[in-house]
Amino acid sequence: MPVVNIAIDGPAGAGKSTLSKAVSAALGYIYVDTGALYRAVGLHMLRHGIDPKNADAVCAALADVRVSLRFVDGQQRVFLGEEDVSDAIRTPEASMAASDVSAFPPVRDFLFSLQRDIAAESSCIMDGRDIGTVVLPNAEVKVFLTASPETRAERRCKELAEKGMPTPYADVLADIIRRDYNDSHRAVAPLRQADDAVLLDTSDLDFDAAFAALIQIIKERVQ
Ligand code: DC
Repeated sequence: MPVVNIAIDGPAGAGKSTLSKAVSAALGYIYVDTGALYRAVGLHMLRHGIDPKNADAVCAALADVRVSLRFVDGQQRVFLGEEDVSDAIRTPEASMAASDVSAFPPVRDFLFSLQRDIAAESSCIMDGRDIGTVVLPNAEVKVFLTASPETRAERRCKELAEKGMPTPYADVLADIIRRDYNDSHRAVAPLRQADDAVLLDTSDLDFDAAFAALIQIIKERVQ
């Protein structure tokens, strides 16, 4: 079977991971969440007392970062050395640190071949910010998944509450707007829709409708 790569990019909270997970399971592909890699690098810096905004310090510390992805029953787990940090990377602090470190070109270069190698070996849905534009420019299918900041903040609030971390809506919205700005205004690999990506706006779609739309986009392009 030929390897098929599907690139899904978009801002934080657009539903990329939920949808990608469900669609990859339906298609029998692996799901690669590249944000987890940037989060793991950010977490490493926080744990070692390195300011994630300090380019020189972050880049100097990269040599010590042992990040890897492992797939257990098709589920991605992210490791720092031998420690599974898949849950530890989900805090607001790790989110912001990820956004900060992801602006530095050496960090992006450091994670590039890891992402490329996985996609070369396995049919996958890979989600991130620059998958269709930089990491997998030849992906068979590219989707730019988005939703309004307000919709994304509402969804994130619900998610956080369900995880036992209730957070005020205003804080979540402010965080989303700040991360959007950060991610789309950085000089290297900013968040933007690839010219050949299909735009899917999920603001007015529930999960089932968004899932069906995504499957349809893929089926039209992959036999
Ligand atoms: O998708 P996420 O929220 O887990 O991503 C965390 C941060 O990592 C996000 O603010 C931007 C960055 N990121 C990136 O720059 N490129 C990617 N391919 C994926 C994530």
